[in-house]
Amino acid sequence: MAEHGEAAAVPRSWLFVPGDSERKLAKGAASEADALIVDLEDSVAPANLPAARKLAAEFLAAGARPRIWVRVNALASGLALADLAAVLPAGPDGIVLPKADSAADVLVLGHYLSALEVAAGRAEGVTKIVVVATETPAALFTLGSYATAGARLAALTWGAEDLAACLGAASNRVEGGGYEFTFQLARSLCLAGAAAAGVAPIDTVFTDFRDPAGLAREARAARRAGFVGKLAIHPDQVGPINDAFTPDTAEIAHAARVVAAFAADPGAGVVAIDGRMIDMPHLKQARRILAARRDPA
Ligand code: COA
Ligand code: MG
Repeated sequence: MAEHGEAAAVPRSWLFVPGDSERKLAKGAASEADALIVDLEDSVAPANLPAARKLAAEFLAAGARPRIWVRVNALASGLALADLAAVLPAGPDGIVLPKADSAADVLVLGHYLSALEVAAGRAEGVTKIVVVATETPAALFTLGSYATAGARLAALTWGAEDLAACLGAASNRVEGGGYEFTFQLARSLCLAGAAAAGVAPIDTVFTDFRDPAGLAREARAARRAGFVGKLAIHPDQVGPINDAFTPDTAEIAHAARVVAAFAADPGAGVVAIDGRMIDMPHLKQARRILAARRDPA
């Protein structure tokens, strides 16, 4: 059904794969992740970067699976241009930009991409961008800027590890497990910034990859908050994330009833279902749930 076909849907699970590991690239290709992010940044030691760029380009060119993104190094690192030049000819779906300070960084990246797309004979603008939008202290003050970031911007996600390092925080968690306030703030600003820009909000990584129950809890909470997907760091995290971001049959049935109730009464601004008031925000949410349906695997 094209209406909720996978091609059009925003990826739920985004699996990071270190770009210097042939073994993990092969594992990633075989995983059920909706999207792969081949990493050239933090998970690759500087000495391995040249080999990782080459491996990433070969992996892309081999076309082992759809929806392959590449995380390049930050613009300020001096490494990003060479990362982009290595992988763009092989046609990644998009670029994940870490440590961005604001939409201005997306526009700069967009210019680089335009030049490389034209040089590679690809259509200008086809390469999309996902921004890791909360990794620097300055970035927390600019989450409202992404509405001006242009058509390449597909999603915003957030990071708590690099931000903690920049802030000098010994941990981003409070005793007992939840995020410390500053990191909850970063999460919420990412969510609102993405909504204001009309792009997908993607939740950050859950680093304890041996705790599927904790991951499922965090992913469900993220979906309730409005996130539409979550980053993963291990293949075992893909299943719980896909499950958490897929509406279940009860949700779909209720959403269908809401849409049907308004369809049956086109002039109505409000209807009642099971003794509850249902108005325009509920209709909007119901349409969202129906759009997020997946065909059973
Ligand atoms: N992508 C693809 N395959 C992965 C993977 C990943 N992110 N993480 C683990 N695997 C593979 C392993 O290579 C291993 O395969 P093998 O049995 O063929 O050797 C299998 O899955 C099981 O891995 P496991 O032993 O449970 O974990 P590990 O100790 O090998 O790796 C990490 C743990 C954290 C180092 C690894 O998960 C990883 O590299 N994650 C991504 C890190 C990253 O990209 N960070 C940047 C974003 S924050
Ligand atoms: Mg990082």
